[in-house]
Amino acid sequence: MSSNNERPVKILIVFYSRYGNTARMAEEIAYGAKELSNIQVTVRRLADNISMEVISKDPAWTKIAENMNNRYPTTSIEGVIKELPNHDAIIFGSPTRFGNMAAPMKTMWDGTTELWTSGSLVGKIGAVFTSAASVHGGQETTAVSMMFPMFHHGMILIGVPYSVEDLIESGSPYGPSRIVGRLANQEIQQADIRVARALGKRVAEVTKKFISS
Ligand SMILES: Cc1cc2nc3c(=O)[nH]c(=O)nc-3n(C[C@H](O)[C@H](O)[C@H](O)COP(=O)(O)O)c2cc1C
Repeated sequence: MSSNNERPVKILIVFYSRYGNTARMAEEIAYGAKELSNIQVTVRRLADNISMEVISKDPAWTKIAENMNNRYPTTSIEGVIKELPNHDAIIFGSPTRFGNMAAPMKTMWDGTTELWTSGSLVGKIGAVFTSAASVHGGQETTAVSMMFPMFHHGMILIGVPYSVEDLIESGSPYGPSRIVGRLANQEIQQADIRVARALGKRVAEVTKKFISS
């Protein structure tokens, strides 16, 4: 089949983000994936597990939550779960929470029993990314924690190889990650951007080969 007739590769990026740092990485991963032709990228943000009623008691948090909701509208967990099987590759991103994925991401996975029993995600390409306050605060364990349910679902996981030179400065072989500081307000670094884009591109390349074989 000529490349003109190939169907588009469908990539879904699902993330949770409270302050926008993980969201920023999702944008760069999407950018990297779209460096290839015929790639369709859909980005979905999982809603916070804390209600606006609780958030609105804290003016600073309310401002952050409103800003996030305007920039990245949320999709319900049920809605995201329904979309998962319709994609060739799925990339999951979560901030580091005590060295683990954040609750909204875990809640999403805990709602996927039907997809698991039907094997709907078996053979999908997958990857992960995270952000963390501090270098040794568990960015790698968080990346790996997100892989556990993916392996249970039979997904095929992609990381970042050391041929991506910026991996010496940012992220890990398990996936892109960035350090945001105690106040979650550190600027994204060029190395973070390059590693995030490299992962997006790699997922697109591998998935393209995989679905055409
Ligand atoms: C409940 C909670 C637990 C956290 N645990 C960690 C941690 O274990 N290690 C770490 O480096 N940062 C930790 N952080 C900081 C977050 O990882 C950081 O704020 C996040 O990466 C910012 O991402 P976001 O802007 O996408 O929300 C924690 C933050 C919260 C609110």
